[in-house]
Amino acid sequence: MLDGEEGYAVRKSMEILVALGDIFGAESLIKVGSVQVAGVSYHNLGDAGLEFLNELAKDGRVRVLTTLNPAGMDLENWRQLGISEEFAMKQNQVIDAFESMGILISCTCTPYLIGNLPRYGEHIAWSESSAVTFANSVLGAKTNREGGPSALAAAFVGKTPNYGLHLDENRIPDVHVKVEADLKKLSDWGALGYAIGKKAENKIPFITGIKEAETDDLKSFCASVVTYGAKPLFYLKGITPASETVHAPKNAITIEESDIKNAYDNINDQISDIDFVCVGCPHCSIKEIAQIADLLKGKKVADNTELWVATSRTAKQLADKRGYTQTIEGAGGKFACDTCMAVAPLKGRFKALATTSAKGCFYSRQNLMKTKMGSMEECVNAAVTGKWNS
Ligand code: F3S
Repeated sequence: MLDGEEGYAVRKSMEILVALGDIFGAESLIKVGSVQVAGVSYHNLGDAGLEFLNELAKDGRVRVLTTLNPAGMDLENWRQLGISEEFAMKQNQVIDAFESMGILISCTCTPYLIGNLPRYGEHIAWSESSAVTFANSVLGAKTNREGGPSALAAAFVGKTPNYGLHLDENRIPDVHVKVEADLKKLSDWGALGYAIGKKAENKIPFITGIKEAETDDLKSFCASVVTYGAKPLFYLKGITPASETVHAPKNAITIEESDIKNAYDNINDQISDIDFVCVGCPHCSIKEIAQIADLLKGKKVADNTELWVATSRTAKQLADKRGYTQTIEGAGGKFACDTCMAVAPLKGRFKALATTSAKGCFYSRQNLMKTKMGSMEECVNAAVTGKWNS
């Protein structure tokens, strides 16, 4: 493969994998069950990235189930989201390149909700950080946090270097996090991720003190904890599957109510006018879409505000069937399938964001927005009034 006997894309891929393996001291390559590729938005790739993909697409074909992270626009309704013709043309070229490689054009950061579901203990090569954390922690699969090119390389070869979180000795928790705060709403999980990420920087947390968690809570926590500093793996005692197989580390920290409040204080700017509400970071589940539709019944999104519901196309198709789409769009909300607030070209377009997501706030600040994080109720209320009211 390295000598080019299997073509250009495989040779390039092996060069990437061998270089990574050398850097991290991997002794072998290991088979992967699936791949998830980030670096899909033309906004981040630019022409150089598109050219790189087109070169690979000439003879590169994936060997395992491979799905995509969000692109820079809704692939169908991009005009409705205010995306330019020029951007759409380039983004479609990126998607065409991925499609000719045999990749599923899924464009979501929640591949585990739409059919790319690894089994416990399976080795995979995923690159979206929230999905990597979910796969490692909630599903019990094994993956490093790949970059876009190294994930793609693993897809063409069907293997990845065996180092880092593929090895059991690197999956041992190294800080015990005792949670003494009460988590009441979805955004509290984002705040918890912020608090743990900051205190347990670059560590693997073993978390106790939480009795229950819904999948949507864990999805939000995974996005936040890794964005704000922890490794993309945690153990939540009594909830995540491998938490009974490890011991609590001696090194311990505590998360109190004041840490959660401090997280909100740091994430929330002092603003009251909101011109952009985006929920679905990570992408909304069908359950969250149902909640948004319920909250919007009989209401209208304010004239000076946009409401985006970021989700996978698969979840949107379910929403169409159940009538949620009609309710949300009837109230003036917009679906943003295949994309999200972080990878769409939004810099300078909105001034103030309201969202349920701590990770969404982190990236929207890079797009020059002020941010407010709160519950789904608070976000829908901000969309309807154009104000943040708590
Ligand atoms: Fe997903 Fe975009 Fe958030 S990729 S986790 S919706 S920043």
